[in-house]
Amino acid sequence: MEVQAVTRPHAVEPTEYEQRRCVVTGVAGFIGSRLSKRLVRDGWTVAGIDGFTDSYDPVEKVMRAAGLVRTSGISLIVGDLVELDLVRAFEGAEVVFHLAGRAGVRASFTNEDRYEHDNVLATKRVLAAARQAGVRRVVYASSSSVYGNGQTPFREDAALAPISPYGRTKLESERLCLRNADADFEAVALRYFTVYGPGQRPDMGLRLFAEAALTGQPIKLLGDGTQRRDFTYVCDVVVATVAAADAPASGLAINVGGGSDVSVLEVLDLLRAFVGTELTIDEHPFARGDVRVTAADLSRAHSLLGFQAQVPFAAGFEREVSWVRERLDRNVAISA
Ligand SMILES: NC(=O)c1ccc[n+]([C@@H]2O[C@H](COP(=O)([O-])OP(=O)(O)OC[C@H]3O[C@@H](n4cnc5c(N)ncnc54)[C@H](O)[C@@H]3O)[C@@H](O)[C@H]2O)c1
Repeated sequence: MEVQAVTRPHAVEPTEYEQRRCVVTGVAGFIGSRLSKRLVRDGWTVAGIDGFTDSYDPVEKVMRAAGLVRTSGISLIVGDLVELDLVRAFEGAEVVFHLAGRAGVRASFTNEDRYEHDNVLATKRVLAAARQAGVRRVVYASSSSVYGNGQTPFREDAALAPISPYGRTKLESERLCLRNADADFEAVALRYFTVYGPGQRPDMGLRLFAEAALTGQPIKLLGDGTQRRDFTYVCDVVVATVAAADAPASGLAINVGGGSDVSVLEVLDLLRAFVGTELTIDEHPFARGDVRVTAADLSRAHSLLGFQAQVPFAAGFEREVSWVRERLDRNVAISA
C-alpha cells in the first residue's frame, strides 16, 4: 500500500480561543476511556459514544463512562453505532477516533455474528456518517491480529492472513476505512499490538493471570508459554492515537507496538516476583486463533507519528498487577 501524503483541505486550525472537537467511539472501553481523558487534557472537546455491549461485564464500562462524565466533562451518547443517528452525533467534529468494536480472539469463534455487527457493520455506519457530517479524519483502532502467523517483524505492507473471525472482521473494517480515504476525507488505521496496563479488559491474559495469582487460584496457561507478544502499554497507545489525528498521511495502516518481545513464560516469571509466591499453573492446549509470535515493525510509526514507546514491559506490568491488587482489595472491603 502506498503512503499518501496529505495536505489538509478543511482542517480546523484552532486559535487559542477555539477548541478542537472530536468523537471517541467505544469511550467506555479500556483504551477509549484512557484516550478520552488524554484528549480532554490536551484541550479537545470530546463527545463519547458507547453501547455498553455484553462483551464483558457492562458494569465495568458504565463505571468508566460515569467517571469520565464526572471528572473530564465529556458528553456521552449511549447506544449502538448501528442504530444511532451518527450524522447528528458527528456534526461539528473534526476527528472521529473509532475505537468501538468487539475485541478478543477466542470468543470470536463462537459469536461471529456479533463480531460482524460491532466491527464491520458499525464501521460502515461510522464512515458513511463521518463523511456526511463533514468530519475531516477517522482514526480507526485496528489490530495486529490482521497479520495472523505472518513473518516477523510485521510490516504494514506484508500479506495479511488473519486466523480468527476477530482478525478477519478487523481487517475488513480497516480496509473499509482506508478505501474510503480520498481528497475530502482522511482515514488512518492503527494496528494496536496487545494493549495492557491498569484497566485492561477482563478477558485478556495479563489481567486473568494477575487476578488468579493474587487470589491463589490456578493460572490457566494455553499452550506451552513459548508464544511471544509485542505488549504495548496503554498510555503509549494513547499517545500514538492522539498523534494519528494530525499525521501527515491518509489511506494507510500504521503499527503501534510497544517494542517488547516477551514470552508468556517470562510474563509468569515476572508475576511470581511481583506477588512473592509460587504460582499454580493449569496447562491446556494452545487456543484456536492464538498466533505464535507478534512483533511490530515500527518504522512507519516513528516517521509518521513520531512514536516511540516509553514504558518497558516489566514496569507497565507491575503497574497493572498493582491495579488488580487494589481492585481486589476494594471489592473485598465493599463486600466485607
Ligand atoms: N486491547 C487490545 O489489546 C487491542 C489490540 C488491538 C486492537 N484493539 C482494538 O481497540 C479497540 C478498543 O479495545 P479495548 O481493549 O478498549 O476494548 P473494549 O471492549 O474495552 O472497548 C470497546 C468498547 O466499544 C463498545 N462497543 C462495541 N460495539 C459497539 C457498538 N456496536 N456500538 C457502540 N459501542 C460499541 C463496547 O461497549 C466497549 O466499551 C477495539 O476496536 C479493539 O478491537 C484492542
